[in-house]
Amino acid sequence: MKDKLIIFDTTLRDGEQSPGASMTRDEKVRIAKTLELMRVDVIEAGFPIASPGDFESVRAVAQSVKDSTVCGLARTSDEDIDRAAEALKPANSSRIHTFIATSPIHMERKLRMQPEQVLEQAIHAVKRARQYTDNVEFSPEDAGRSEIDFLCRIIEAVIDAGASTINIPDTVGYNVPEQFGNTITQLIERVPNADKAVFSVHCHNDLGLAVANSLAAVMAGARQVECTINGLGERAGNASLEEIVMAVRTRQDIFPCDTNLDTTQIMNNSRLVSNITGFPVQPNKAVVGANAFAHESGIHQDGVIKSRETYEIMRAEDVGWQTNRLVMGKHSGRNAFKTRLKELGHEFENDEDLNESFRRFKDLADKKHEIFDEDLQSLVSDGLLEAENERFKFVSMKVGLETGMTPEAQVNLTVEGKEKSGNAQGDGPVDAIFKAIESVVDSGCKVQLYSVNAITDGTDALGEVTVRVSKDGRIVNGMGADTDIITASAKAYINAINRVSSPIQRAHPQV
Ligand code: KIV
Ligand code: ZN
Repeated sequence: MKDKLIIFDTTLRDGEQSPGASMTRDEKVRIAKTLELMRVDVIEAGFPIASPGDFESVRAVAQSVKDSTVCGLARTSDEDIDRAAEALKPANSSRIHTFIATSPIHMERKLRMQPEQVLEQAIHAVKRARQYTDNVEFSPEDAGRSEIDFLCRIIEAVIDAGASTINIPDTVGYNVPEQFGNTITQLIERVPNADKAVFSVHCHNDLGLAVANSLAAVMAGARQVECTINGLGERAGNASLEEIVMAVRTRQDIFPCDTNLDTTQIMNNSRLVSNITGFPVQPNKAVVGANAFAHESGIHQDGVIKSRETYEIMRAEDVGWQTNRLVMGKHSGRNAFKTRLKELGHEFENDEDLNESFRRFKDLADKKHEIFDEDLQSLVSDGLLEAENERFKFVSMKVGLETGMTPEAQVNLTVEGKEKSGNAQGDGPVDAIFKAIESVVDSGCKVQLYSVNAITDGTDALGEVTVRVSKDGRIVNGMGADTDIITASAKAYINAINRVSSPIQRAHPQV
């Protein structure tokens, strides 16, 4: 029997710390349900003290997820821990994750605390969390740059205080695999009560080593990995869940453990997270990139046709690439539509919701011959975005485009229910559209990124547009999808403006 490798997903917490990736409560619940469907063991749903919105999101995830453990992050203060416990109350199975920095630089310059004070605080926090649950995780933040002797002392003390998971974060992505693996070996050997806890790792990707470091730690005895879908996360991101899980699954000849994940759900999760956050997946990304299983060179194609194993080490269908090519079309009924979305992790709240989405599906089916899972996911996300767009709503648009002429656009939108229209010229049709919208809303936003992604093959594919805007130091992503990419651009821009004009005051756990 192999050991179990616990998969702790932090897309909804660390992933959300990426600039522009903030998610609404309903979006978090949708992602959590798909993670549960994939059989992720622990879902870190957020940082409840950060804001009322974060608290509500953790609570909503705790209410809807039944099979995975739901975790909330807390610093070591009583307020943080009490708030996390309160948010997690509805969960079937919950965990409080408390942390404090242990590296000399963080203790001296950030916390302005002596190591002894940090030690006391950590013990106090774990004991307080234990009053609410016996599932408590402790992280010595910036462990990757902490002194090993101090790490051993604090870990021994928090295990004695009741922590059952010890997570070793490489907070700034400074470590390299051999060294990080050695740290885990030493901790497990030197901490006298190490056998009373599961050792976990949480690696950031600043040097592109998050997955390699996590796997080195697994070889050294770590039995939980913290990771995110598509590697989303603070700065260069976290270790990517799909890469960790598939590395361990594919190399069962060398790993002494395996996960319990249903890997055929990986693509579904990857698309959903990309869809919701507006962070596209690069085509050459391992496992989930569009080219991950595409063979361009003649030699490779020939080899794969003769025997797949010549150039492929994993089967595309094992990560969900082909199993979900079920095509729907104009004649598909409401029931098939509902069933497929349920399989993709989306449940409609009521009949009205279902009917509205089904109407959108029929509109799309009129324009597009075959409809794939990607289209269904995008359609539902777009519907949710529209439902949330309280202040500004897209109605219609007209674009004049002729070679040699300056493009002109007219956009009709509603502002708090009242129809308004704006006209503008621009350097291209998208520029003209954005300027026409600005002539009505006057948001003062700066566009930081504009990207278009065709989500299926063919010229009739749905175009998914991401627009990242900033205003007063706040960065948000807006998304829009349509078979016409200019319409998708208008929707994405309006979505971004809606999001940026409802600023959320949120505390950052590490500041
Ligand atoms: O990177 C980090 O140190 C964290 C901790 C809160 C675990 O995210
Ligand atoms: Zn982190």
